Amino acid sequence: MELTNEIQRRRTFAIISHPDAGKTTLTEKLLLFGGAIHVAGAVKSNKIKKTATSDWMEIEKQRGISVATSVMGFDYESYKINILDTPGHQDFAEDTYRTLTAVDSVIIVVDIAKGVEAQTRKLMEVCRMRKTPVMIFVNKMDRDGKDPFDLLDELEQELQVQVRPLSWPIEMGVKFKGVYNIYEEKLDLYKPSKQTITESVQIKQVNGPELERHVGSDLAGKLRADLELIEGVYPAFDIPAYLAGNLAPVFFGSALNNFGVKELLDCFVRIAPSPRPVSADERRVVPEKDAFSGFIFKIHANMDPNHRSCIAFLKICSGKFERNVNYKHVRFDKMMKFSQATAFMAQKKETVEEAFAGDIIGLPDTGNFKIGDTLTAGEILHFKGLPSFSPEMFKYIENADPMKSKQLNKGIDQLTDEGVAQLFTNRFNGRKIIGTVGQLQFEVIQYRLLHEYGAQCRWEPIHLYKACWIESDSKEALENFKKRKQQYMASDKEDRDVFLADSSYVLQMAQQDFPEIHFHFSSEF
Ligand code: G4P
Repeated sequence: MELTNEIQRRRTFAIISHPDAGKTTLTEKLLLFGGAIHVAGAVKSNKIKKTATSDWMEIEKQRGISVATSVMGFDYESYKINILDTPGHQDFAEDTYRTLTAVDSVIIVVDIAKGVEAQTRKLMEVCRMRKTPVMIFVNKMDRDGKDPFDLLDELEQELQVQVRPLSWPIEMGVKFKGVYNIYEEKLDLYKPSKQTITESVQIKQVNGPELERHVGSDLAGKLRADLELIEGVYPAFDIPAYLAGNLAPVFFGSALNNFGVKELLDCFVRIAPSPRPVSADERRVVPEKDAFSGFIFKIHANMDPNHRSCIAFLKICSGKFERNVNYKHVRFDKMMKFSQATAFMAQKKETVEEAFAGDIIGLPDTGNFKIGDTLTAGEILHFKGLPSFSPEMFKYIENADPMKSKQLNKGIDQLTDEGVAQLFTNRFNGRKIIGTVGQLQFEVIQYRLLHEYGAQCRWEPIHLYKACWIESDSKEALENFKKRKQQYMASDKEDRDVFLADSSYVLQMAQQDFPEIHFHFSSEF
């Protein structure tokens, strides 16, 4: 019973947004509510990730800081909340994609003035693919922005998900009066304040005279008309549809002014899912019923280049993890126990005695883990849903110091296991290609190869549009394609077939000319 309660009170989620929409500010306010921090500004070290500079110090700093802020756990009411940080810097999107494989739901922050931006659109694709329940917080209502109805249309179109407002703003910018909380049927009046909690007024009936008293007759009339329109146009809020990832509730507020944040949090803890069953190749794993299991979704290298020690982040999928108990490392078929696993409680790290499904723990690692590895109480399980996505940038990696080719190969192997970037080997000429989602990752790799492995690499340009994982029901068609396109065929680290398309036109033509071949932009299909 204790186990079931512990698991069901857990809410593990990520906040995603385009840089500058207000993710850090919102995270900080959530931590304030949870009592996890006491002053605003404590999460600001996070900010460093946004600096676009690619100077080496920054790389070092980013690696250090993001361990501390990677997972923030705290208690709120009877719930245990785990927020997973998704680096906002666009160069780190690969890491962000993978973080999404470890959460049970997502809150998207959108700036009222900017609407849906590129990064959010991309991350939402992953949520859609995984059917992750999504809640949307429209931020910066204290500033002028888009008409809320237009914004809802934009959210629906751009994010390809049905939306349903659960709160509604009364004006915005300097005229911003507050929001009507549709979910709880109360009016929250806006007072700009960075620390205090919103003043709420219970309104029994939006049609009564009470509303006029607070916002005046013009705005009361407009709010009633808006609410009527919402009821007419949008589907009724349906929790199962939200949990299935088909319907996204929308809240409006201002994270900076701590407005609308508690309402979001209160609704979130009530309706967001606790850890859900996870599919493995072998079977479905049920958090409350099954013995301990979990998978590694992120590996973080240590700051100290002399000791290649890392922290491997494990998401617990089922059961309970205990300190110093033997667990099976499935890929090695070997039992291991951990005396120094860390839990992440807000800003500090603690040694874990026990942790439950939904929690993230950090395992000290000296090269034993790679992304996707499974730990279990003894069973052989391989979790699904940890795909690689097609990188956006590609370069040939060449050895710049012929005496150190062994070190270089080892470094490339380990760094790509860690998920820093993806490695493809061109089958035609044997050259190694590194694929990333941002320019900075190339610099990080070059720097780490030198400092951690004593190897030197050189980048050479290669013009590529996408890496597509290919398959076909017809073995013959597949072989024919591979033969015809042999110059463009590569293997990923698992030796899967990858087609390197050098332009969208080439890809389109290939799709047209070879209808029996399926082209995928992620490695799991
Ligand atoms: P991010 O993590 O998504 O990148 O965004 P972050 O929270 O850092 O917020 C980006 C900027 O937007 C910050 O201003 C922040 O203060 C501001 N901001 C966040 N929420 C609101 C809001 O509700 N209203 C208004 N008006 N601004 C908001 P900055 O000038 O870049 O940083 P700072 O000097 O304030 O720290």
